[in-house]
Amino acid sequence: MTIVRGPQQTDDATVAAAGDGRAEKLAQPGRLSQMLRAIAEIGADGDAISRLAFTEQERQAHRLVAGWLDELGLQVREDAIGNTIAERPGRHALPAIGIGSHLDSVPHGGRFDGIVGVVGAVELIRVLSERGIETDHPLRVVCFAGEEGARFGEPCIGSKAVTGLLERRDMRAMRDAQGVSLAEALVDVGLDPAKVASSRWEPAEWAAFLELHVEQGRVLEEANRPIGLVDVVSGSTRLRLVTRGRADHSGGTPMSLRADALAAAAEIVLAAEALANDERHRGTRATVGYLSVSPNSITTIPGLVTFTVDVRDVDSDRQRETADDVVSRARQICERRQLGLDVAVIADTSPAVLPIWLREFTASAARDVGVEYLVLTSGASHDAQVINRRVPAAMIFVPSREGLSHVPGEWTSNADIATGVDVMTETVLRLDRFLVGLAGERGLEGAS
Ligand code: HGY
Ligand code: MN
Ligand code: MN
Repeated sequence: MTIVRGPQQTDDATVAAAGDGRAEKLAQPGRLSQMLRAIAEIGADGDAISRLAFTEQERQAHRLVAGWLDELGLQVREDAIGNTIAERPGRHALPAIGIGSHLDSVPHGGRFDGIVGVVGAVELIRVLSERGIETDHPLRVVCFAGEEGARFGEPCIGSKAVTGLLERRDMRAMRDAQGVSLAEALVDVGLDPAKVASSRWEPAEWAAFLELHVEQGRVLEEANRPIGLVDVVSGSTRLRLVTRGRADHSGGTPMSLRADALAAAAEIVLAAEALANDERHRGTRATVGYLSVSPNSITTIPGLVTFTVDVRDVDSDRQRETADDVVSRARQICERRQLGLDVAVIADTSPAVLPIWLREFTASAARDVGVEYLVLTSGASHDAQVINRRVPAAMIFVPSREGLSHVPGEWTSNADIATGVDVMTETVLRLDRFLVGLAGERGLEGAS
């Protein structure tokens, strides 16, 4: 039985028949809830969370989680880009199995995006320790820094650093809305931009990376499935556009003599929406989430408008073509209106097809745990898609109520999170056994 579902109508989404009832529940919803509440106190912003990348709040959250991992006996360190990495030794000197996600949020965001994968990783370690379960491979909990692109435009800064994708970027040129550069923000929180390259991972030291995350979509809730296994993670091309017109008196300036920067921007916003809705672009999404008007005054015609366009897709060509089409339409609109236009690509991340062999481990684990799952694409971007460029990665989704995310209404039940942790735990144990068997067959040292 297959259900063709997913933000981009996946070609295949397989629903596994659940086993009878569930295996023993390992993760404890109460402990997960406590950790979620403790982290939510950091960056609390009314009913929302604002814990932006490379701010003191993000560092505070890293210190809190580092303390929990230290109490569990792990060797904890902070790398040069601010990721927190904690190792639970294995029986043998084998490549590590990584688990984790990110601790930063978008402005006025929710309490679950990223955090679920971090507290889930902590709970997984706690469950293994309580049961005296050792693994052959070391386990490494990773809390990534700066995953959200909301502040600097560039997403997945921590995971791009460890995969060597940040070194070629100019961290002085990546600036937030207040003009603070990434390099300055790193220094402000006690990190050294000159040392970022030292955070790069040696792929041979990692066997796999698993990320538990809220779906940030409606597919699991509508299909009534507690677990999603991700086959493709959307990429994103992010543009910053500036329309340059002429500020002038809103009463004294005839319509025929205006160079209205906001009217032009509004046409471009609608053009971007129309391009994403074009039936050729099955599943492309285009969003103008940030727009600032100057001088932003009731009685002055806007002279300059700065705004961003976030183009997402699971198909790399379509993603880049749509972004190019947005720029072409913007140029036509500004030419006709005789306005200036500046265009900058502020970030460009490719979609990622996650390895099916690793996803099959998560599928087997879901069956062992006795829960039904759905294979689906991810409309959101994630650290796992970046890590997957160097280390095989898998993503386990748990449902988002009404699909909401990046807003205070973001919510996932503790029970669903615990189910996700159990599937992740079972995946880690299966992977550990399978890979050590492989290593033994190949006579690799440390795997005897
Ligand atoms: O924006 C995203 O796709 C993710 O939530 N960072
Ligand atoms: Mn996230
Ligand atoms: Mn997010």
